This record gives sequence, C-alpha cells and structure tokens, in this order.
Amino acid sequence: MVEDLSALSYIAPNLPRYEIDREKFWAWWHEASIPIARLTRDSRGNGQGWDGELWNGLTIWQKPDYQKTIVWKVNHQVNEELFGEIIERVHKDLPWYDIQGLTLWSNKVFIGAHHDGLPRDRFPSAPRINLIDECENDTFFLVNRKNLKRTYPNLRTGPNLFLFNNEDFVHGADAPIGGKKVLIRIDGPLKDPEGLQKYIREQVEAGAKCGI
Ligand SMILES: [Fe+2]
Repeated sequence: MVEDLSALSYIAPNLPRYEIDREKFWAWWHEASIPIARLTRDSRGNGQGWDGELWNGLTIWQKPDYQKTIVWKVNHQVNEELFGEIIERVHKDLPWYDIQGLTLWSNKVFIGAHHDGLPRDRFPSAPRINLIDECENDTFFLVNRKNLKRTYPNLRTGPNLFLFNNEDFVHGADAPIGGKKVLIRIDGPLKDPEGLQKYIREQVEAGAKCGI
C-alpha cells in the first residue's frame, strides 16, 4: 500500500507503449518543428531569455484558447495520419484531465533542474509521453528536493506514458547522445485529482514502473 504519493517521483502506468511510424515522423519533423522560445514568465517566475536554444517542437493538437495560456511560442500543425490515433488514445488514457494542448518537445542541450509552472499537485500529475527516444542515454531526470537523490526513469523500453511529480521533485534533462528524443507534453488542468490518485495507487500495487 502506498501511504504517501508525494514520495513518488514518477509513475509509468502499465499501458501499451505509444508508437509512431518513425520514417514518416522524421521526414515531417524536419519540416514542421521550430525552436521553442519563451514568451513570458511562468507562474514560478522562470523568466525570458531563452531564445530557442533549448528545445525544438510544435503543437499537434489544441483547444482554441491553448495558445493564450502557454508561456512558449510554438507552431500548431495538424497531421491526422501521424497523430490521429495517438491523440484519441491520450484522451482515453487520461480521463482525469481537461486536456488543452499536446505539444512535442525535443531538448537539444542539457536542461538544468527546475519546476514547471504547473501543475502544483503533491503527487505525480505532470503527464508526458516519451514518444521517440533514439538516444544512447536516459536523458530525463528527477531530483528529490529533500535528499537531492537523482532518478533517471527508463522510458526507452516498456510503457512510455508517464506522470512526474512537479512539486516535491525538480526535473531536467541531460544532453542527448547519439540520437534525438521527442516527448509529448500534455497540458491542461487536472479536474479529478482523487480519481488520478486512486489510479496511481492501483498502478503501484499492480507493479507499474515508478520512482522515489
Ligand atoms: Fe520542465
């Protein structure tokens, strides 16, 4: 039994891995993705000044107001062939969220440990999918704020939808070695925190991959 979900750094529920046609994906990515630039401060006070040198990416699905709420400049491009099924599945796999936007992120360099502006829950509630990972190294890491222990979730094999704790842990990414990694960032308010916590407890009990 998991007593305290705030001790969990991340959980990757026992779901089939999200896959995509890589040949078609890379051909499209090189045309469509742009450097992501920060437009304004986020709610944690992370400021301006990163002019696209950290990430490339673009939004693949959004609700009308999404671009008004985010602090990043990102393109929006629809590609039903590549992402239609994935978008449908994300909504089915994460019924506790009012999803506002799905954005691809690919870090180009080392990203220092930080909190994202949102979410602020004391349990793993920041959803991502490690959609493509051709790196030789696990890049994404979490650091426990209390004991500074650093964890690198292995998301290159097995389930690749995961949720991380953006409040009790900080996160960052090592520079990719030998290939690229592309995450799907899932943005939108958590409308049913109790439901998600119940699901996380069930997943831990069932042996899902998780970290402390
Ligand atoms: Fe972040």
